[in-house]
Amino acid sequence: MFDAETYRDRRSRLRSSLDSGLILFLGHDESPMNFKDNPYRFRQDSSFLYFLGLDSPGLAGVIDVDEGREILFGDDPTVDEIVWTGPRTPFAEQAEAVGVSETKPTSQLAEVLTTAREQERAIHLLPPLRPQSVLELQRLLGLAPETIDEQVSRQLVRAVIDQRANKSNEEIAEIEGALEITWGMHTEAMKMARPGVREQEVAGAVEGIAVARGGALAFPVIFSVRGEVLHNHSHGNIMQEGDLAIHDSGGESPGHYAGDITRTIPIGGRFSERQKEIYTIVHTALDESIEAVAPGVPFRDIHLLASRRIAAGLGELGLMRGDVDEAVEAGAHALFFPHGLGHMMGLDVHDMEGLGEDDVGYDETTERSSKFGLGYLRLARALQPGFVITVEPGIYFIPQLIDRWRSEGKHEEFIDYERVEAYRDFGGVRIEDDVVVLDDGHRILGRPIPRAIEEVEDWASR
Ligand code: GLY
Ligand code: MN
Ligand code: MN
Repeated sequence: MFDAETYRDRRSRLRSSLDSGLILFLGHDESPMNFKDNPYRFRQDSSFLYFLGLDSPGLAGVIDVDEGREILFGDDPTVDEIVWTGPRTPFAEQAEAVGVSETKPTSQLAEVLTTAREQERAIHLLPPLRPQSVLELQRLLGLAPETIDEQVSRQLVRAVIDQRANKSNEEIAEIEGALEITWGMHTEAMKMARPGVREQEVAGAVEGIAVARGGALAFPVIFSVRGEVLHNHSHGNIMQEGDLAIHDSGGESPGHYAGDITRTIPIGGRFSERQKEIYTIVHTALDESIEAVAPGVPFRDIHLLASRRIAAGLGELGLMRGDVDEAVEAGAHALFFPHGLGHMMGLDVHDMEGLGEDDVGYDETTERSSKFGLGYLRLARALQPGFVITVEPGIYFIPQLIDRWRSEGKHEEFIDYERVEAYRDFGGVRIEDDVVVLDDGHRILGRPIPRAIEEVEDWASR
């Protein structure tokens, strides 16, 4: 948690972005796995954390834009509850720690909101993500669940995204804390990834490191020799000499900021010549993309730069052909690079996506493409100082996609399907780093995690 001043300042900036009314921040509740007393690990709502800091279930906050009043709603545990879950800092003291002086029991939230509605005051809501929150809003505001989307405050969504998108130095330090955990996760995975080892042994160890260092996972571990499955969360394969494993994972800092790193590991400790060729294209695309990160540059342009690098590299190997610019314009490279180059990162690994992917990554001057591949780009708009983003090019050979495109004769002028056949069991390569945009360029965040071929081979042979 940051100092009370940080949260006070964030709320006062938010208040000044809105015209009038009340802002309601609903914290998350416990969520049962299979019965009530067996919940998933508690994860607070990220906007609640950002503005109100408190990391426990069952809380809500109301900010009165007109009067400047701020109220936190919550309860102290009963003795019966303390018997099971232990004592807690008194709620009023918790509120003070985040700079809020007024508290009320949760039972009074409905009344405060009802009074505001009777006075015809606006109640600004963020889009609720969890079904539990939808039901809670239904109860509190008397809204039918299917109408809640219409009640979401566009003004509030925009103001929250503007604030959360620009990371302060203390937030960057938290992200670098998450990346220090992530350094441990990735170097351990490189050492463990060997022929005969099952993927789940590595995935389990990686998750253990995140927990043992006082954090958690920022998202479920991707560790698979079937790296062409972009978000592959199954870990059942036994690794074989000559496989390539994609490892995409990140720690979450104790303050709940994310890290998100991908490395591709040769099983057996050495890349084959063919693997080196594909890896080098992706690595060059990563370096050139990061080099291009600067304020004012549309991230879509950097995505297209990476796409051209990939198309050019695959052209040199004979898998693609024709004019590189034309191939990328047509979208032919998306057979091999079907996802976006990156996304914002912060309290969420895909930062603020729960508030609306287009609101975060697009603006009035940047419209989402409908093309396969480019349409998956989560962040397209111009970069600003303080944005933290991922840069994550990849090349994949997805047999089902290759078969479909080939049978349709799609982009035949740019793709040599005959040669692509020889790669259908290749898997994939992705390399991902996290970068902050600075006034005069950028900085790669965190302790460097090996990614040059020789470095990865060295760690994978330890
Ligand atoms: N870790 C998922 C992603 O890179 O977007
Ligand atoms: Mn990732
Ligand atoms: Mn990512």
